[in-house]
Amino acid sequence: MRVLVTGGAGYIGSVVSARLLERGYDVTVLDNLTAGHRRAIPAGARFVHADLAEGAMLPHLLDEERVEAVMHFAANIKVGESMRMPMRYLGDNVRNALNLLDAVTTVGLKRFIFSSTAALFAPSDSPIGEGDTIEPASPYGESKLMIEQALRWLDATTGLRYAALRYFNAAGAWGNLGEDHRPESHLIPVVLKVALGENGKVGIFGDDYPTSDGTCVRDYIHVVDLADAHIACLGALEQGSRAYNLGNGRGFSVMEVVEVARRVTGHPIEAEVLPRRPGDSPWLVADSSRIREELGWSPQMPDLETIVATAWEWHRQHPRGYEE
Ligand SMILES: NC(=O)c1ccc[n+]([C@@H]2O[C@H](COP(=O)([O-])OP(=O)(O)OC[C@H]3O[C@@H](n4cnc5c(N)ncnc54)[C@H](O)[C@@H]3O)[C@@H](O)[C@H]2O)c1
Repeated sequence: MRVLVTGGAGYIGSVVSARLLERGYDVTVLDNLTAGHRRAIPAGARFVHADLAEGAMLPHLLDEERVEAVMHFAANIKVGESMRMPMRYLGDNVRNALNLLDAVTTVGLKRFIFSSTAALFAPSDSPIGEGDTIEPASPYGESKLMIEQALRWLDATTGLRYAALRYFNAAGAWGNLGEDHRPESHLIPVVLKVALGENGKVGIFGDDYPTSDGTCVRDYIHVVDLADAHIACLGALEQGSRAYNLGNGRGFSVMEVVEVARRVTGHPIEAEVLPRRPGDSPWLVADSSRIREELGWSPQMPDLETIVATAWEWHRQHPRGYEE
């Protein structure tokens, strides 16, 4: 089966592509390389350098490549930026996804997997399940909800079968594939860049939250576990569409991440407490029991030390990321 992976030159899409190839799928990566890296595209994948904004070419591409399933990762991904530039999200992200869905329904494709997000949900101080209150706090979260809603209607009206996976925080590296966002805003690579000497210290935004050590708590899921959940969903799509919350199920505070990174790297990693950032929720952890029960998926690398160690290994071997 050939799978079209949009955003397959990016962090998560590249690992999913590699994992798909390993399992015997054929992969076509579509990416405009605005945030992705040519070197991240796994050998064995066909590459189409294109922008989803150019919707007219998509039906032809799906036909020509004989695509049987689509995994859609390509998007602008910064929550904070979406507050300043909402139309990059409510406009571009939504339009691009709809271009893709337009093409998918035009050629009659029936399998679609969508990268959704924990940012759909209202803050909660207990693990967040699929039934919890949906209340996006940013244009980024809202744009993902709009696509989930479109998918629900396409399922009902055209028979498209989809999975919407609401990721919590993807982290870690796999082989020669790792996280290289520019600028980097995700905590684990930001902390590791201090150990590499690239940044002087790491900023901790608030240490007076109602959590065990006062810093925000997040759920980190290893990117390979995330990838394997996509493959499990692909195999189950024939039985019907689904939306899953996808995380480790365990929360780790910012301070815990810094301490684990100190242990893993042997570097003192200086940290500085800064004022709280508007919009940060104190606690964001997934209840992923539904995907565990229905698909038998479970994270194979749930331990924070392992997640950080794989990321550190990649950063040590690629101190300039995907640049030469
Ligand atoms: N990283 C996380 O922790 C996280 C958490 C929740 C949800 N997500 C979602 O997962 C997906 C992948 O995230 P990531 O961290 O791998 O991001 P990324 O920025 O590394 O990858 C996105 C890729 O999409 C490509 N792209 C963007 N716009 C495009 C367009 N118009 N046409 C073609 N290609 C385009 C970029 O060049 C890049 O390679 C995104 O949809 C994101 O919203 C990520």
